[in-house]
Amino acid sequence: MNLTDHQIQILPDGTLSVPNTVTVPFITGDGIGAEITPAMQQVIDQAVKSAYAGQRQILWKEVPAGQHAFDTLGTYLPDETLKAFADYHIGIKGPLTTPVGGGIRSLNVAMRQGLDLYVCLRPVRWFKGVESPVKHPERVNMVVFRENTEDIYAGIEWKAASPEAKRFYEFLHDEMGVTKVRFPETSAFGVKPVSEEGSKRLIKAACQYAIQQGSKHVTLVHKGNIMKFTEGGFKNWGYELAEQDFKGQIRMDDCICDAFLQNALIKPEAYDVIATMNLNGDYVSDMLAAQVGGIGISPGANINYEAGRAIFEATHGTAPDLAGKNQANPCSIILSAVMMLDHMGWHEAANKVTQAIESTFGQGYATADLARFMDQGKPLGTKEFATALCQEM
Ligand code: NAI
Repeated sequence: MNLTDHQIQILPDGTLSVPNTVTVPFITGDGIGAEITPAMQQVIDQAVKSAYAGQRQILWKEVPAGQHAFDTLGTYLPDETLKAFADYHIGIKGPLTTPVGGGIRSLNVAMRQGLDLYVCLRPVRWFKGVESPVKHPERVNMVVFRENTEDIYAGIEWKAASPEAKRFYEFLHDEMGVTKVRFPETSAFGVKPVSEEGSKRLIKAACQYAIQQGSKHVTLVHKGNIMKFTEGGFKNWGYELAEQDFKGQIRMDDCICDAFLQNALIKPEAYDVIATMNLNGDYVSDMLAAQVGGIGISPGANINYEAGRAIFEATHGTAPDLAGKNQANPCSIILSAVMMLDHMGWHEAANKVTQAIESTFGQGYATADLARFMDQGKPLGTKEFATALCQEM
């Protein structure tokens, strides 16, 4: 068997050519990863089988990362893992323990940076039956495009009172004439790089997505009223891009981030596709997920549309308190796999999974974290929930 036969290819126009039998690298993940990842594979295999009558299939290829990789290979993130994701253009991962101590700050960040996955994509919708803190969670249906590589999250910062912070302050004061630092002796410093290229490639991906999905509406969420060159630059480059590349195809508007957080609670139906920077995107994604009660089940992906690379992921952590108990909710990684199927153009299989989740929740079946809030909820273990979804398909 020639492995390249099962690889996704990127066509010259940037679209994906997906063979009927396709290899998907996956990271099982630490903690509950050992339970939710096989549950996801069982459900996705069943969906593909029943959608395409055996004409299509996924070959799962395990690649190492996390604690298990460290214990067996001496590294948390082997180069071969990043290479597999790059070569196969696609992959999915369970949660990873963040190593304690020096070296890698976060494996997720290392992966995003190593593969230049500049979009963090978070669709947010409500599933009937899921407990929500708001009155009308069904009105929330948004997709957040969060910039993943720039902003104050770029990791350029210096500890207060360190020689680096002192030197940086001297540069600011002596060479740039900055006199606004209130307590220079005890200040830590961070740098917020925001570029035209970085902003435009993110906003372009959001516009293309909005066109594909038919909403054609993109909202730029920013704090350009205060940070005029960084966040304001993001906004201006967004409008410039819309004018140059998407004239007549996109309805673009913008909203100051604090107002957006309020509006998203009061009139969520006003928003469709959100394009925002790294820090705002972090807050916005989690607030919207909480609004639909889905912080534990919300899916996500990190994507580089230009290079055609995407890693789909469970957005929660390793839940050490639940590991090994067959209690973890596998919905986050399952819904991330649904995003992956949609990304591959296997929409029929994706829809089967979504419908199975809707119908299973509708009958009150869910893992304990959700079932306890449902009317007549019936808690199932991780394995039993996955089997229930398969039966529903
Ligand atoms: P966590 O998300 O693992 O757990 C927070 C709470 O949510 C716990 O009560 C847990 O039981 C519950 N929970 C999480 N996932 C669940 C699921 N699928 N079903 C039911 N309940 C679930 O966050 P925590 O405890 O802060 O982090 C644990 C480890 O995970 C740390 O090492 C952290 O760095 C790492 N982490 C990794 C992430 C990733 O790989 N994407 C994201 C967040 C944390």
